[in-house]
Amino acid sequence: MDESQLRPERMPRHVAIIMDGNGRWAESRGASRVEGHRAGLESCREVLRSASDLGIENLTLYAFSLENWSRPKAEVRDLMHLLETYLDEEIEEVDRNGVRVLAIGRNDRLPPSVRARVDAAVERTQHNRAMTLVFALSYGGRAEIVDAAKGIARDVAAGRVDPDRIDEKTFASYLYAPEVPDPDLLIRTGAEMRVSNFLLWQIAYTEIYTTAVMWPDFRRKHLVEAIVDYQKRERRFGMTSAQVSEAAQRDG
Ligand code: FPP
Repeated sequence: MDESQLRPERMPRHVAIIMDGNGRWAESRGASRVEGHRAGLESCREVLRSASDLGIENLTLYAFSLENWSRPKAEVRDLMHLLETYLDEEIEEVDRNGVRVLAIGRNDRLPPSVRARVDAAVERTQHNRAMTLVFALSYGGRAEIVDAAKGIARDVAAGRVDPDRIDEKTFASYLYAPEVPDPDLLIRTGAEMRVSNFLLWQIAYTEIYTTAVMWPDFRRKHLVEAIVDYQKRERRFGMTSAQVSEAAQRDG
């Protein structure tokens, strides 16, 4: 993919990725699933560097879903171990490059050793502004909506929020990372066409791109391909094509 096809003025502000296919990548090579996850970690590193380089302000990686807790114990342990390795090895560079790390999900379920590293990474990078890297860990989209509803219910019960004044903006402010804009582009690797309980509230108007490339094979050129595809689309947000053109002319 020729990067000259990229239009810098139409870069997505937020790219979210469902990193699928580690297991199949490994199985097709006669390797163990953990080898697939380890190779997938390398893709995470390359994609973060490329995204930062390309000027993408926010990158969310679906690293571990709530549903993933029901995988075989050994695989869960391997994934947690890889996450620790990633945080230990990368935090220096991530911080140096001005990347702010956030974590979304029910992270009280994470092993203490992982949680401590996640908390330390979030704390250490909290003032960085070059880019935001969001890890979805122990994350479920429905659980996030339930947690937001609980937060609002508590504030209503305490008299801090008037139920008649709750609108979409109020609701969104109770989500895990309200400061991060909704994703413009959602990429799913591994030839599946599902949303898999990822950012359900936030993807209402997100453009979806799927590819048969397995996550361990995903490289900068694939990210560029996805962005070029995204940039060719017309985002109408429920308006007509004519209205979109008018608005674009008006906004220069
Ligand atoms: C999907 O592959 C991927 C995951 C379950 C987790 C993503 C994990 C990584 C990319 C590696 C670790 C990185 C971090 C940051 C912890 P799959 O196992 O569902 O693949 P399959 O559908 O082929 O079985």
